[in-house]
Amino acid sequence: MSEQSLDADLCVSDCERCPALVESRSRIVNGTGPRDADLVFVGEAPGANEDEEGEPFVGRSGTVLDDTLRDVGLARADVRITNCVRCRPPDNRDPHSDELDNCRGYLAEEIARVDPELVVTLGKVPSQHLLGRSVAVTSETGEVFDARVGDAAVRLLVCLHPAATLYDRSQADAFEETIRQAAELSGLADDGTDGQSSLGDY
Ligand code: URA
Repeated sequence: MSEQSLDADLCVSDCERCPALVESRSRIVNGTGPRDADLVFVGEAPGANEDEEGEPFVGRSGTVLDDTLRDVGLARADVRITNCVRCRPPDNRDPHSDELDNCRGYLAEEIARVDPELVVTLGKVPSQHLLGRSVAVTSETGEVFDARVGDAAVRLLVCLHPAATLYDRSQADAFEETIRQAAELSGLADDGTDGQSSLGDY
């Protein structure tokens, strides 16, 4: 995919590669957060809330993510949040492999241009998509791998999906521990800027 597929804000403004998603979406949901973020979270695909608001992770999963970021001393504004697929799948089904492939170039370009210290995959779909193998997220959460996304070499941390903590409270500690690890590995835990951004939350 050419360098021109994302605009200067790392956004896709028009894409019709996946007929079923064009049908089910009301908008394309692009990544949000600093264009030079040290830490990038990658989810699966927008859900109903994200489709409505045009921003990744703004529903219940987003509340879990935001709360946990705050618990480890970060704010949403400190990190970049994006998805493997930018359009809402019908009935909240998982994205199909051709849809993941169609959107992969956008994600690869976003990661290459942001050039983060760490990419965190939230859940099974993004972990498998970026590692190119089957992943048992519950047992691999907190593990770090070297991965290649397009032309970019990335350090990748496998993490549970925030929704896992809603269905199984015992996963909440593991989720928080992995997010804390992400803050440390990306260098955000101790650079003195996190407190500054967090003030904006109050
Ligand atoms: N789940 C995801 O994987 N991505 C979102 O943006 C919202 C929920």
